[in-house]
Amino acid sequence: MHNVKTFQRLKRKAEKIVMMTAYDYPSGKYVQAAGTDIILVGDSLGMVVLGYEDTLKVTLDDIIHHAKACRRGANDTFIVADMPFMTYHLDLETTKKNAARLILEGDANAVKLEGGSDSRIAAIKAIVDCEIPVVAHLGLTPQSVYAFGGYRVQGKKESEFNKILEQAKKIEAAGAFMLVLEGIPEELGKKISEELKIPTIGIGAGRFCDGQVLVYHDILGMSDLVAKFVKQYENLSEKITSALGQFCNEVKAGDFPAEEHIYNRKK
Ligand code: KIV
Repeated sequence: MHNVKTFQRLKRKAEKIVMMTAYDYPSGKYVQAAGTDIILVGDSLGMVVLGYEDTLKVTLDDIIHHAKACRRGANDTFIVADMPFMTYHLDLETTKKNAARLILEGDANAVKLEGGSDSRIAAIKAIVDCEIPVVAHLGLTPQSVYAFGGYRVQGKKESEFNKILEQAKKIEAAGAFMLVLEGIPEELGKKISEELKIPTIGIGAGRFCDGQVLVYHDILGMSDLVAKFVKQYENLSEKITSALGQFCNEVKAGDFPAEEHIYNRKK
């Protein structure tokens, strides 16, 4: 299993890092078997698993519940658990307690939080001070969807570009061991990845990040919305609906169960 040091080593050796999201026992099992370097139990679970419109209603208990299930499927992979909206925005005591619950109750190895403002930097420092590894997240941070006025690419304007670059440097100085970059121009992803020693993991941040992350349901073609940066490697929605439809049809037609599916008293 990787650890905070081996991720840094992968960056130094210019070996790309693969991160995938997973949310339960089967998805944890599949992404581990596929060879991912790191799993993110993301608050995207609000949208792809729980059916919410955005990530904001996901609770700490939701993430703990799903991270534990994911760990049961992926006991040999480094797992990062997302800190949900408003679990790291208040006082630092609450922030530290919430981060600790993800490690102690959720069986995660690290936590992730969004943003790079001064109060987010203080939250990162406080969590790192508890010996809990932190992944930061900049750019189109989904928990800011209302503040951004929608899911808009960030860092296109010169001022935004420079602000995100400065925040990335502060995040590294605060002790985060990895940085997720989402929904930013490729030039910015490249610049941050060159300037930072910690690995960057891109999602819609171009080709030059130190690794890439995609959401499990997006890779498999099982989500309702598909962003430009997603590559669907399968269309499981169609396959699942077709298999379930065949079961419905066979039951209605009396074709299931067939001879081979039934028990007899005597052979
Ligand atoms: O919640 C999530 O899945 C994420 C990834 C999109 C990076 O934050």
